[in-house]
Amino acid sequence: MGAQIIDGKAFAAKVRGQVADHVARLKSDHGITPGLAVVLVGEDPASQVYVRSKGKMTVEVGMNSYEHKLDPDTSEADLLALIAQLNTDPEVHGILVQLPLPKHLDEDLVINSIDPAKDVDGFHISNVGLLGTGQKSMVPCTPLGCLMMLREYHGSLSGMDAVVIGRSNIVGKPMAQLLLGDSCTVTIAHSRTRDLPDVVRRADIVVAAVGRPEMVPGDWIKPGATVIDVGINRVDAGESKTRLVGDCDYDSCAEVAGAITPVPGGVGPMTIACLLANTVTACCRANGVAEPEGLTA
Ligand code: GUN
Repeated sequence: MGAQIIDGKAFAAKVRGQVADHVARLKSDHGITPGLAVVLVGEDPASQVYVRSKGKMTVEVGMNSYEHKLDPDTSEADLLALIAQLNTDPEVHGILVQLPLPKHLDEDLVINSIDPAKDVDGFHISNVGLLGTGQKSMVPCTPLGCLMMLREYHGSLSGMDAVVIGRSNIVGKPMAQLLLGDSCTVTIAHSRTRDLPDVVRRADIVVAAVGRPEMVPGDWIKPGATVIDVGINRVDAGESKTRLVGDCDYDSCAEVAGAITPVPGGVGPMTIACLLANTVTACCRANGVAEPEGLTA
């Protein structure tokens, strides 16, 4: 195994430390405590785990956490009314509506009802447009975490060939925008891409975000390339046990890559750290206070 392991868990702890320092300064110098509201509709077990974890870490960095757990059959009107109330609540600086929503709710409508300045997920159409045009915006947490790890490892990314596998609105598309913003030559590959192995072999940076367990084998990776594995897939490990694997086949990719993020302990912890960072950023912008450095794109 030649690759250096990019330790997302340790890096996320460092980011949370920076966030906590900034929160402490906001409290002592300005009397402001950043607040994050998380809305969960329904009882999806994975979403419940994420929401609990987000709430715990929000409190750990000294911010206020407001959890709103709604029945699975909550009406769209009731959900929109709650969001309208959070939009005007001065104690709430960030709003996150956990996805996926139950089928009867229009996800786009709900997301676009969030005040863009409080949209710490960066999913609102205004933030998508601002990011796409290189303007100051709220940046989606998972791609932001990937970018921070890449900058930490490489310094400048200018001129590098980057291939993003996956074209989702949550990861693939914003990841491509961020890499373009850092002057990479960016390719977005997806399920219809021809000669995917050859496309991936050209990349200095591979970001895999397809949600298919161990889809990328080591012989697709250019020797020395950096592999960022966004996938978190639970697979059968025999004897009625399960284990988590990424979208990349870790062992074979680690043989040829120069650096690689593990699963778990890579991108995952960075996502929540960036959510906390975005909440502090949103709070600073709302109050006209200097933003923390290094925690935004
Ligand atoms: N569900 C899975 N990932 C995410 C995320 O990043 N944000 C929200 N709101 N829901 C999610």
